[in-house]
Amino acid sequence: MHSPWEPSSWRERPAGQQPQWPDASALEQSLKQIAAQPPLVFAGEARTLQSELARVAAGNAFLLQAGDCAESFEDFSADNIREKLRVILQMAIILTYSVGVPVVKVGRMAGQFAKPRSAETERVGDVDIPSFRGHIVNDPTASAAARLPNPERLVQAYHQSASTLNLLRAFTKGGFADLSRVHAWTQEFVTSSPEGRRYEQLASEIDRALAFMRACGIETESNANLSEVDVYTSHEALILGYEEALTRKDSLTGTWFDCSAHMLWVGERTRELDGAHVEFLRGVANPVGCKVGPDAGADYLLELCDVLNPSRIPGRLTLITRMGADNIEDGLRPLLRAVADAGHPVVWACDPMHGNTFSAPNGRKTRHFDDIVSEIRGFVRAHRAEGTWPGGIHVELTGENVTECLGGADALSDADLDHRYETVCDPRLNARQSVDLAFRVAELIREFT
Ligand code: PEP
Ligand code: CO
Repeated sequence: MHSPWEPSSWRERPAGQQPQWPDASALEQSLKQIAAQPPLVFAGEARTLQSELARVAAGNAFLLQAGDCAESFEDFSADNIREKLRVILQMAIILTYSVGVPVVKVGRMAGQFAKPRSAETERVGDVDIPSFRGHIVNDPTASAAARLPNPERLVQAYHQSASTLNLLRAFTKGGFADLSRVHAWTQEFVTSSPEGRRYEQLASEIDRALAFMRACGIETESNANLSEVDVYTSHEALILGYEEALTRKDSLTGTWFDCSAHMLWVGERTRELDGAHVEFLRGVANPVGCKVGPDAGADYLLELCDVLNPSRIPGRLTLITRMGADNIEDGLRPLLRAVADAGHPVVWACDPMHGNTFSAPNGRKTRHFDDIVSEIRGFVRAHRAEGTWPGGIHVELTGENVTECLGGADALSDADLDHRYETVCDPRLNARQSVDLAFRVAELIREFT
């Protein structure tokens, strides 16, 4: 059926969503430079993530995958990374404490740069210019020159990913994520809100539990389970030349790993079974994901499972549904049944963002908090009906106090969108909305168990 795999075998297949690089030799030069760089992650880490995801697949853990729609070359700073990590840690602790299972934390970070587009070009005035495809490809400024794909950006994306990952490792292992600092993960603008107060209460309960453990003679300070966390990285494996350049053979097992991130996924627009993206991901041993939109039928999904996870390794494959709040419950049930009947041990995660995007009257792309909660509710209900585990959520968020998604406890309205609309691509939940969402998700899952 499938011929032997190599890091470059995707080149034999039709590859959607690839930039029209103007200069082939400049592209080759950039890819050569990246191929000569050290890997960003190690095979052993990707294997550990896979075993954690296997616990999710078995219904014993929950996946929180979160971060920017698209990382930015301009909005890149230690503060920005720290704030995003803070929110992810807050959400994870809410879910862990309220649901009572470990939360596997995966950032859309340190490599989430490339964006698929619905149109090749965009009309500006009376000219068509290439669409913006993420900072790894071109500049968002609306001019033909800025939009020309520039392969030097691939190299810059590699270096920014390395810096981001370095800081992420420092924060997660160097004390910032210590559970005794659970109060310090919350930001001022979150603390003052109802969901912030709810978080403070939960943090105080955790403090008391830690004090209780210490009183019982348990060393909480020196216990790595309490003082360090693992936050893994992930992105859409879209620009395949970049991914190929970071694909390396693991010296321990002789298998190939895409060392650009721990986990890679294929997007809704590039998931054809005989396409280049599925071809590339089937050969790397990282845990992989695939977005599943409303058009994906059970037959397609079973074939996808067979191609991406023929050995049926638990934790290898995460199916990330993004069907829209109105379609999810009825749309998902037959898929859950088919995959369970076929015996494929997948992680099911809910992306409640991409099926609920619309344009506000002022033209801003947005999403409503209520639709996001509603899609997760439908996702959980479908799992309850089929007896499967609603394994996780996949969300776009930032630690900043932006105004990109409507609703939430602050009831952000159309008029608020203009205040701080900063995303490079899709609208993200702000820190308050994210903390609020974590409480809502925890309630939905608790009802389920
Ligand atoms: C994304 O995750 O930002 C994205 C483009 O999603 P999808 O492929 O599901 O449309
Ligand atoms: Co997006």
